[in-house]
Amino acid sequence: MADNIIQIVDLHKSFRSQHVLRGLDLGIPRGQTTVIIGRSGGGKSVLLKHMIGLIKPDKGQVLLDGQDLAAMHDRKLNQVRRRFGMLFQNAALFDSMNVLDNIAFPLREHSKLPPERVAQVVAEKLSLVGLPGVEDKMPDELSGGMRKRVGLARAIALEPEIILYDEPTTGLDPIMTDAINRLIMNTQAKLGVTSVVISHDIEGALRIAHHIAMLYQGRIIAQGTPEEIKGSGDEVVQQFIHGRAEGPIEVI
Ligand SMILES: Nc1ncnc2c1ncn2[C@@H]1O[C@H](COP(=O)(O)OP(=O)(O)OP(=O)(O)O)[C@@H](O)[C@H]1O
Ligand SMILES: [Mg+2]
Repeated sequence: MADNIIQIVDLHKSFRSQHVLRGLDLGIPRGQTTVIIGRSGGGKSVLLKHMIGLIKPDKGQVLLDGQDLAAMHDRKLNQVRRRFGMLFQNAALFDSMNVLDNIAFPLREHSKLPPERVAQVVAEKLSLVGLPGVEDKMPDELSGGMRKRVGLARAIALEPEIILYDEPTTGLDPIMTDAINRLIMNTQAKLGVTSVVISHDIEGALRIAHHIAMLYQGRIIAQGTPEEIKGSGDEVVQQFIHGRAEGPIEVI
């Protein structure tokens, strides 16, 4: 049986009358990269936030190593969250803190590194995301793509066991997109982390994923290796990965 670090079982989530997740089942294999694809507004970010316990299910379970996140007390949940790094879709930087303090935040909270070592780690992570030397800038002095990369540096700062990336390459130029895809692959390979990536970049997704899952109408309708997804006989999957307006998925 597959060794899944996260197991999602019959997950349902509604916002008012909108039933976003409708009985979703998904396993996230330990130490591998899983990419989640699906339409805008389909519930990908909502799904990712369930994995780290930021949103609680209406029904169903999110199990981390077999333990239900929704059943955990705040203290336990905080402990568990240290195992994760997360890049939010909007980067979610602290506007009143400079880049150094933003990236140092998880290190100061959760590690006992001395200040000079913290500064070194920040510099190292900034270089990895292609932004050396921007420590003193404030978030509002950065472009959208730069903010995203600072968020990425923060997500990987603690070298967590599980990294959740919500659209890490959206809004980046093609060269930087390739660099970030490589960074995700290298981080996975070097540290053996479990990565979950939401992406609209199908080409990149096919390259970085061990496992791809497609979210459609509140459920995972197809999953498999990139090869399996490319060869899928499902018309919805084919329409989506080829980006065609014509097909069973309605364009609205
Ligand atoms: N906190 C919330 N309150 C109310 N509705 C929400 C909330 N979060 C998400 N939604 C709704 O749930 C649906 C799914 O949102 P989600 O952000 O997960 O989509 P997505 O698949 O990530 O889309 P995109 O690719 O555009 O980022 C949307 O209709 C959104 O308006
Ligand atoms: Mg989203």
